[in-house]
Amino acid sequence: MYSALAFGLLAAAKVASADQQPIVGTPKGDVHQLGKGTFDDFVKTNDLVLAEFYAPWCGHCKALAPEYEEAATTLKEKDIKLAKVDCTEEQDLCQTYGVEGYPTLKIFRGVDNITPYSGQRKADAITSFMIKQSLPAVSLLSADTIEDFKTADKVVLVAYVDPSDKSANETYTATAEQLRDSYLFGATNDATLAEAEGVTAPAIVLYKQFDEGKSTFTDKFDKDAILAFVKTASTPLIGEVGPETYSGYMSAGIPLAYIFAETPEERTELGEALKPVAEKFRGKVNFATIDAKSFGAHAGNLNLPTDKFPSFAIQETVKNQKFPFDSEKELTADAISSFVEDFSAGKIEPSLKSEPIPETQEGAVTVVVGKSYEDIVLDDTKDVLIEFYAPWCGHCKALAPKYEDLASLYANSEFKDKVVIAKVDATANDVPDEIQGFPTIKLYAAGAKSEPVDYSGPRTVDDLIKFVKENGKYQAEVAEKTEEETPVAPAATEAAGEDHDEL
Ligand SMILES: *[C@@H]1O[C@H](CO)[C@@H](O)[C@H](O)[C@H]1NC(C)=O
Repeated sequence: MYSALAFGLLAAAKVASADQQPIVGTPKGDVHQLGKGTFDDFVKTNDLVLAEFYAPWCGHCKALAPEYEEAATTLKEKDIKLAKVDCTEEQDLCQTYGVEGYPTLKIFRGVDNITPYSGQRKADAITSFMIKQSLPAVSLLSADTIEDFKTADKVVLVAYVDPSDKSANETYTATAEQLRDSYLFGATNDATLAEAEGVTAPAIVLYKQFDEGKSTFTDKFDKDAILAFVKTASTPLIGEVGPETYSGYMSAGIPLAYIFAETPEERTELGEALKPVAEKFRGKVNFATIDAKSFGAHAGNLNLPTDKFPSFAIQETVKNQKFPFDSEKELTADAISSFVEDFSAGKIEPSLKSEPIPETQEGAVTVVVGKSYEDIVLDDTKDVLIEFYAPWCGHCKALAPKYEDLASLYANSEFKDKVVIAKVDATANDVPDEIQGFPTIKLYAAGAKSEPVDYSGPRTVDDLIKFVKENGKYQAEVAEKTEEETPVAPAATEAAGEDHDEL
């Protein structure tokens, strides 16, 4: 099978200049089935590839299959290739590309430029999304087109560059490639347009339909500097947390201050009142209102009451710490300002939701709670395997007896003081980890507490032992007494909590 595919690729190289399409992968459809031996070459020889990572048993994958085929056929004419990888056959390949759930769709421009597919899983949507991807990331603008372009979206960027300034052009284009799914990018080398805008090339103007209307970047063109500029300038001074914006705020790398209120009027009013403090902390703390009628449950995640609004909390998004503003106190602009000042000065302790620390440990698995997390999980002398679970999660229940067996094996071995098998109910306890699905299993190895290793293999006692052995400081191996277990489907997880579904 591999040799046939490899041959197909060799043939592809030979006939590259001819019109004829070489056949690589499944001969029946237009989706290319790829594996370890073929994937990288395929991605390198095709400029734009959409790849689906799937498992044969996954329902969403089955639903996607005919849509994906149809899109592949339509896109064939445009020379955009659709590929698929069966992760039950190609575990290494799927791990290399960070596949955590099925199906995962990623856009490849070579093996180094990979972006997630963020469109819908329908043939039409896939087709139009990928056609847009195939167009240049930067539109060249002229006096005739620039005005319309400035208002073509909520946020657009225009670079004013000198025709001879190749480096500015390249840096800007590379940035645009990276952010092309989020914003429209245009550029012009017409000096009169720069003059009309009142800027000197090279400069970037970000036009936005909110706040001050535009922001200008005049520093040296450097990709990281431009990325940082775009992030700050495109974020409204007082934004709104909702399903479309939540993940952006969580990945922004700075804390998010939530203003919960039930009516639009109240949100506007509070937003206005907090503008000066938001302005003061711009680029350091994001501020956003949130509809407490629709997303009131999220207040609970910030350790605020879920039935008392308006309210306010800051979330430290990197360490995932919560700083709720005392809900008994009156919510005034002054009180919030000093709260944010104190937070920023490190004067406020994060609030920690925790079950009581158990007086005795009943089973072999060590029960961790919010208050004991640091003492147990971050104990630098021990390899700690920790499972983050939810009481309602079926996969967690299925794992429980095996996990108990695993813990017993270690507890009755020479490694009983070196390896801890632990679990924490992540719905009832605050943990520093951002948990996306249940169960999540991580190893905090002794001496390497800042670099926990995620477990994504099959959930069998045997595989977990291997994992602890390979990644732990003590290379602790225990022998499993039981018969070989039937293999379990790899790492299916359940979404973490109601609020994450909504937001
Ligand atoms: C940037 O460079 C590309 C490729 O050389 C060129 O087509 C484009 O016109 C340049 N853009 C500007 C604004 O000069």
